[in-house]
Order: sequence, then structure tokens, then C-alpha cells
Amino acid sequence: MINAGLIGLGGMGRGHLENLVRMNREGYVSLKAACDIDPAKFANMESTLNIKGVGESQFDFDSFNHYTSIDDMIANEKLDLIVIAIPTYLHADAAIKCLDAGINVMCEKPMALTSDDCNRMIAAAEKNGKYLMIGQVLRFWGEYQVLKALIEDAKTDDPAKKTYKDIDLGKPLCGYFFRGGAVPTGSWQNWYWDKNKSGGCIQDQHIHDVDMINWLFGMPKAVCSRGANMLKTRGFDSGYDAVTTTYIYDDDIAINSQDDWSMDGRDFWMEFRISFERGTFIMGSNNGGVMIKSHDGKDLTPEIDTENAYYKEVLYLVNLVKNNGVNTVNPPTDSRDTIRIVEAEVKSCDNNGAIVEVK
Ligand SMILES: NC(=O)c1ccc[n+]([C@@H]2O[C@H](COP(=O)([O-])OP(=O)(O)OC[C@H]3O[C@@H](n4cnc5c(N)ncnc54)[C@H](O)[C@@H]3O)[C@@H](O)[C@H]2O)c1
Repeated sequence: MINAGLIGLGGMGRGHLENLVRMNREGYVSLKAACDIDPAKFANMESTLNIKGVGESQFDFDSFNHYTSIDDMIANEKLDLIVIAIPTYLHADAAIKCLDAGINVMCEKPMALTSDDCNRMIAAAEKNGKYLMIGQVLRFWGEYQVLKALIEDAKTDDPAKKTYKDIDLGKPLCGYFFRGGAVPTGSWQNWYWDKNKSGGCIQDQHIHDVDMINWLFGMPKAVCSRGANMLKTRGFDSGYDAVTTTYIYDDDIAINSQDDWSMDGRDFWMEFRISFERGTFIMGSNNGGVMIKSHDGKDLTPEIDTENAYYKEVLYLVNLVKNNGVNTVNPPTDSRDTIRIVEAEVKSCDNNGAIVEVK
């Protein structure tokens, strides 16, 4: 049995708690403990995180131990896996502390504020022989998994190796990704609104699409980004609150991504549109669904795995730990490389859209 613990009981932590409680019930883990610096978080308030799959549960906090210090939790519990869901600027030190204590770590995205910190985290995982996985959850999200399979199918002529035998779109040529909503407030000290704590919208929210572009198309050699700061007028140094980026590859594939976290807070929007040689795969915003418009006039609706992606990602790591498996879906080096891309994007924004090499 995998003994599991959780650090952080804010918006995202509540979502992970819900999934760990479910995994505990299903026999995948034994949920032993949770830690939050704010003892009020152990009151039985509801989860309010407005993202797909995370519900409105009440929790039985008596069924596991509570801590207000990470050190105390590590010292008093025998844990195999810790899920970390605390503000971004605290990720690196918390993850390294857990890895050094011999505990496997699933840490929320973004991995850290700098690629240097990411490298420190990877070194700690390697030194201690433990798993480190970052919550780049789109890699477990049904719609994006279909997109990945279609792009992989285009790389082989062998029908046996293709996921989709009856959809033949050819190679991807052009893509657009968008994500947006209200600036998250978090449940702790308004940390999202401080670029030195969250990295602003580019590092915090746009990172999901950047990691997807990294997964689907590989590392771009350069980026060209323009950013806008909307919260300045409200007195916050939040960095860029909206961004548009073109990713430059050696071949002539045309990829663009946009993010805007200054939008109306009632809805969260995410969408993509990828054109292949023989059709276009579209995911519409705000539960707009998915469709493939093929050039031969057929409309196809691929089957989507609707299981909660946050549950799937943690269960993936639980199974790696249990079976000593190899993380082929979401290795931490990929998450570090995604941070390298956003570092180049911020630099490009700082230089009025100059083309910046991804270092
Ligand atoms: N994968 C996703 O889709 C997704 C969505 C939302 C947030 N996130 C990420 O999850 C992380 C947490 O975000 P959030 O929205 O839950 O923030 P939040 O402000 O709602 O919650 C943070 C929690 O961490 C606690 N905390 C702070 N310092 C601590 C410490 N040293 N030890 C223990 N607890 C501590 C706070 O008391 C608070 O309860 C961030 O990195 C964020 O980017 C990911």
C-alpha cells in the first residue's frame, strides 16, 4: 500500500484531497496525513475550485493526521508519496525537502519560478532515487490526449501503431491554443497577484498550453511574445496578465498560443484549433466540445476519456511508485523545459516582442 500525504489545502489542494480520499476508498493509497500552515484550512469548508472534475465535497478530516508544518509531518509519518499544492515560489524547497526525506513527490505546476530551481529539484530526485512529477495535468486530459494520439499517428505509416485506424488527418501544419478567465485569488495572501510569487499569467496559467506545445511539437528553437499588464491600474505588480506567443520551429509549422487572466470571472475558457493536412481538430471554449472537420466533408467526434484528469495524473504516479515504472508521459525534465520556454517568453515580452532563443 502506498502511504500518501498532502501539503496545501487551498483551492488546488482541496481538489487533490478529494482525489486522494477517492483513491483511499478504492484501495490505491492509504491517506495518512495533510499539512497546511493555516489551521483554519482543516475546518470542513467546501472545495470552491472552479475547474472540471473538482467537486464540492465535505471531508472527514478525522480519518487522517493534521500538521501545520512540513517538517513535523515528514518526521512523524512514514510516507511513500506526497502531493504538494502550495504557492509556486515555495515549490522547489518543499519538494527538495520531501525528496531528501526519501519520499516520492507529485508537485503542482508550475514546477518552480526558475529553470535553475527546476534543476535543483531534478537533482534531488536523482540523488535520492525518488520519483518527481509535476502536475502538468493537460497530459492526462481526455481532449488533449486525443490530440496527442492524432499527432503521433501522423509519424508512422504502420496501421498497427496508430491509435485511430479510421481517422487519417496527415501531419499537423498549424495550431492555436487559448486559456483565460479571472485572475485567481487563491486562498492565501493574494500570492497570485505578485509576479515574484506566481510568475504572473505566463508562468501560472499560460504554462499549461506551453507544456502542451512542448509535449505535442517538441521544444521550439525560439519564441516571439507580446504581453500586457492589466492589474497595474489596480495597484498590483502581477507581471504580464495577458500574452500572445508565436513558437518558432526549424520546420515551417505555425503555432501560436494566447492567455488572458483579466477576463470576466464567471467562466473559465480553454480551446485549441489544430489544422492537419486533411482536416482540423477543434476544441471549443467553455464546454464547446470537440469536433474534427475533415476535408472530405466528414465530421468526426472522437471518443473522449472524461475521467477527472487530476485523479488520473496522481494515480499514474501512484502506479509508477508501486511498479517501479518509467515515467514516459510526464518526466520532470519536460516540465523544466517548459519553464525554459516561458523564461524566453517573458524575456521576449520585456523586449517588445523580440525573437528570443529558448536556452
Ligand atoms: N493544475 C492546475 O490546474 C492548477 C489549478 C490551480 C492551482 N494550481 C497550482 O497549485 C498551487 C496552489 O494553488 P492554490 O490555488 O491552491 O493556492 P491557494 O492560495 O488557494 O492555497 C495555497 C495553500 O497553501 C498553504 N500554504 C502556504 N504555505 C505553506 C507551507 N509552507 N506549508 C503548508 N501549507 C502552506 C496556504 O495556507 C493555502 O491553504 C499553485 O502552484 C498553483 O499554480 C494548479
